[in-house]
Amino acid sequence: METQIPEFYEIYGRKFKLLIGQNEIAKRVKEIAAIINNDYKEKKPTFLIILKGAIFFGSDLLRHISLECEIEVVRARSYGKTMKSSGNVNLDMKVEIENKDVIIIEDIVDTGLTLSKLLAKLNEMHPASIEVAAFLSKPAQRKLEVNVKYVGFEIPPSFVIGYGLDYAEKGRHLPCIYSLAD
Ligand code: PRP
Repeated sequence: METQIPEFYEIYGRKFKLLIGQNEIAKRVKEIAAIINNDYKEKKPTFLIILKGAIFFGSDLLRHISLECEIEVVRARSYGKTMKSSGNVNLDMKVEIENKDVIIIEDIVDTGLTLSKLLAKLNEMHPASIEVAAFLSKPAQRKLEVNVKYVGFEIPPSFVIGYGLDYAEKGRHLPCIYSLAD
């Protein structure tokens, strides 16, 4: 059931407008889980949730995964308090993925800098395979080509918040995606 949510949301004087609603999100997340369940039916994947942004997408997606699997978390930070990717990606990870089939769960792929740095580090650990599931993708913003196998929604370059995504740590709790409107 869809909670009553406002059309607009304001953070530090910046106005955001509703872009993707709860029902649409729930439907798409379920679809992606079904595709992964089918693609990995012979495997036991390890899901790697990238904090903090992917907390909502990760927990919603995983509730629809019917495979035997494991969950790990990794902290990645590049935006700080701005609306632009800093290019300096800070990774904090202690994961054991050797010979495992890894599925990275990201909230958003924007420039692709975070993901390419993450993939480079993970590949050094010799996993059996690595794929990426990203809730949102902004293809027009890419600075580095990255292969994202499962994408929830492709969106325009505008800054977005909600469903785990923040503006200076605010707005993560919103159940929907909002886009900068001013
Ligand atoms: C966001 C997001 C991705 C990355 C995408 O993380 O969660 O990890 O930026 O941007 P990119 O493709 O331009 O690298 P952020 O640094 O905001 O940390 P957070 O998830 O804790 O908010």
